[in-house]
Amino acid sequence: MPVPPSSSSSSMFVFTCLLIIFLLTLHSSDCLAKPTNTTPQLSVDYYAKSCPQLEQFIGSITSRQFKESPVSGPATIRLFFHDCFVDGCDGSILISSKPGSKMLAERNAQDNKDLRVEGFETISKAKALVESKCPGVVSCADILAIAARDFVHLAGGPYYQVKKGRWDGRISMASRVASNIPRSNSTIDELLKLFSSKGLTPNDLVVLSGAHTIGFAHCQNFVSRLYDYRGTKKPDPAIDPRLLKALKMSCPRYGGNNDIVAPFDVSTPFLFDHAYYSNLVAKLGLLATDQALFLDPRTKPLVQALAQDKQKFFQSFVVAMDKMGSIGVKRGGKQGENRKDCGMHMS
Ligand code: HEM
Repeated sequence: MPVPPSSSSSSMFVFTCLLIIFLLTLHSSDCLAKPTNTTPQLSVDYYAKSCPQLEQFIGSITSRQFKESPVSGPATIRLFFHDCFVDGCDGSILISSKPGSKMLAERNAQDNKDLRVEGFETISKAKALVESKCPGVVSCADILAIAARDFVHLAGGPYYQVKKGRWDGRISMASRVASNIPRSNSTIDELLKLFSSKGLTPNDLVVLSGAHTIGFAHCQNFVSRLYDYRGTKKPDPAIDPRLLKALKMSCPRYGGNNDIVAPFDVSTPFLFDHAYYSNLVAKLGLLATDQALFLDPRTKPLVQALAQDKQKFFQSFVVAMDKMGSIGVKRGGKQGENRKDCGMHMS
């Protein structure tokens, strides 16, 4: 027969249990220590103790960049997207290729050649400031996620809390890019498949594409729509004739300047609003992939709804960015590290 514990041994028992629970909690919150096989949880207050002013430090850089060079905004948001889609949001897009090595890093892949230098510069400046204030604490991947949010907000878009706790990846391979980044001539089927492979829904595709409310694209990404749409030798019938004329003036069929860009949103290229969607409804989409969102019955209803409702776009965008920002997140151990210099090449 078990003997009932005396009152002193029962309080000892309770104390021991509490101690064990306390130690277990301590251990599990020791987020810098252990690699884990499950998807790590990100949290808004991840750096609350280790770098409480982190967001102000990054904010001082992003607001200055936005004033001095507004293209840093779209550049950084796109950088974040290209980071997350290629093997997770792990800052691996920032890693440089090793001089003399045949194995190129992601940023030097053909599909990334249009990523503007201003995005990389923003992160490098923010990291330098953060390292001077909180050395060895904050990952490049988290800085990129926060800077992208800052620019959405600075451009007039929603402010949202960024969850943190991403570690930096150790691997960056150009060969991983082509199959993970959408192209300007991808079909909706291809886009849906790619997004689904990242855990993103058709609605996420429509909502995240709304980032094209700011920024620019080079002629080569839409020139075939102007002169020879899908081998028809005719322009894409889904382009408004006035836009077609204007784009043809900037982008001749042959011998144009490779550096010329056109704004995604003809009226407000630096304003983060929902005009992207009303543009699609009015046949003013720039890329075939943008316009296709209005042509395909699976995505058209949401395009129409977002064209009518800026708040709905903002709310959905915040949720979708949080989802995108959680793709393939890494922790310590073999998987990840905390890079001191985001652009440093792989060892
Ligand atoms: C859905 C499929 C997508 C395709 C096919 C696509 C394709 C492109 C292309 C071709 C450019 C122009 C690059 C250039 O010529 O310089 C571009 C720019 C841009 N993309 Fe996307 N994109 C997609 C989704 C996204 C998503 C999900 C985001 C962010 C959440 C995003 C953010 C941007 C931004 C902000 C720019 C402007 C960059 C700048 O002006 O520097 N895109 N995209």
